[in-house]
Amino acid sequence: MGGMSGERISGGSGAGPKGRGRLRLGVNIDHVATIRNARGENYPDPTRAAEVAMAAGADGITAHLREDRRHISDADIETLAALTRRRGKPLNFEMAVTDEMRAIALRHRPHAACLVPERREEVTTEGGLDVARHHNRVLPLVSELKAAGIRVSLFVEPAAAQVEAAKSVGAQVVELHTGAYCVAVRERRPEAPALLIALREAARLAASLGLEVHAGHGIDYETVGAIAAIPELAELNIGHFLIGEAIFTGLDPAIRRMRALMDAARDEAAA
Ligand code: PXP
Repeated sequence: MGGMSGERISGGSGAGPKGRGRLRLGVNIDHVATIRNARGENYPDPTRAAEVAMAAGADGITAHLREDRRHISDADIETLAALTRRRGKPLNFEMAVTDEMRAIALRHRPHAACLVPERREEVTTEGGLDVARHHNRVLPLVSELKAAGIRVSLFVEPAAAQVEAAKSVGAQVVELHTGAYCVAVRERRPEAPALLIALREAARLAASLGLEVHAGHGIDYETVGAIAAIPELAELNIGHFLIGEAIFTGLDPAIRRMRALMDAARDEAAA
């Protein structure tokens, strides 16, 4: 079964509800494909980036097959699923709540699927999935993916209503959207501390409901420490910044540095 063997990216040795275990790092390689597609060439190859990422310490690979195929392609998912299966590493398939993506997920059976909202015109995943509002569409998809052995995560804003709704539709994991916090830090906006508190509270609530807690979007070297220190988090998914940084330092050193910052933040929080 695709990507199901080996190390688990969800539910493994990471943080339990109150634990401060090793935080897993999922590296999102979408934007290697963005560069490739900008010229319509067959390089740079996101599968090669996945190989480098795993060698540099990524615990898993994350890829978002968007409806408009602007970066990752169907063929990429095929090769990434095969690669991660061979390496015994999890593939985290980010997908919109559509019949097309449902069929693709069921065909490849990745280790995990993270349901995200998607609008064609958005530049990136701008907000979390409104699980509370789309309960009736999300619930059957969660059930079907789970029945196929896929671990289901919902990408939500750090808000109590969304975390509770994620629990009520049967998700095993919530991934908290860190985008607003990361932008606020980068732009030196005064609401940054309140946004960090919202992430902490949502993580605490999710863990208390028995959900595994992940976080991602917009994380960079500056923001990773405060996020990694949230004790309930078991996994971070990071992409755009790492691929950008790779232009200057190479992908391997960029990932190693991120990994080191995550570990340092965890050690400091535990001390
Ligand atoms: N997690 C989810 C659910 C996402 O949609 C994305 C972006 O594809 C990420 C994490 C990674 O975000 P970034 O590329 O900004 O690091």
